[in-house]
Amino acid sequence: FGKKITYRESVNSTQEIAHALARDGEVEGSIVLADEQTGGRGRLGRAWQSPKGTGVWMSLILKPNIPLQKAPQLTLLIAVAVSKAIEKVSGIEAAIKWPNDILISGKKSAGILTELQAEADSIHSVIVGIGINVNQERNHFSDEIAEIATSLAIEGGQTYKRAEVVGVLLQEIETLYQQYLENGFGMIKLLWESRAFSLGKRITARSITGAITGYAKGITEEGVLLLEDDHGVVHSIYSADIEFPS
Ligand code: BTN
Repeated sequence: FGKKITYRESVNSTQEIAHALARDGEVEGSIVLADEQTGGRGRLGRAWQSPKGTGVWMSLILKPNIPLQKAPQLTLLIAVAVSKAIEKVSGIEAAIKWPNDILISGKKSAGILTELQAEADSIHSVIVGIGINVNQERNHFSDEIAEIATSLAIEGGQTYKRAEVVGVLLQEIETLYQQYLENGFGMIKLLWESRAFSLGKRITARSITGAITGYAKGITEEGVLLLEDDHGVVHSIYSADIEFPS
């Protein structure tokens, strides 16, 4: 992975470039990196602040031969890889909040945006966008997210080499991805669960269809979150924002 790197100083979003490359037949494992994104995208239509020279703003092209409905497993795989890479580079513990927020001391330090190019019901390419807050100082974050966002530098009290973060991350992804293609999701699920922040906790899953509060029981083989409400009914959560009710 990372044998072919497309680097740009400033882009709207690395996702757009990776989508275009994938459509033009780019090989698996190619990455797009930018120093700055002016239109960085987050999950659920949100913006992702990507100031110049501070973070890892990267999109990776994957072409897994798996059924479409298994695609969420890849997001969980990448979350494991990102949390491992952060720990390797900085020694700081990084937990995963379902589905794919990477938290340090309860604050978000990285996020993952998985987008698909599909034909009928098979996957053509998966564009995995990864944003890691590496060297931001507190005042880099807008007021809106200052309370909920953090960076490796803030947590570790030192700056880190972004190239090293990328190198370690690509290695982690490649190892887990090979394992996944050979042996399936079982191992990844265990690794994910051992790093999960929200499991066993009382949470609220909020989406456009409403909010459900209960206990996070686990994830399924497909990467779906299982939430048991106060009546003992278990809900399958496919997409939502997780909050921790006080
Ligand atoms: C999230 O947690 O909401 C996902 C954030 C994903 C951000 C990354 S940065 C590189 C890639 N390009 C984008 O525009 N978004 C992803």
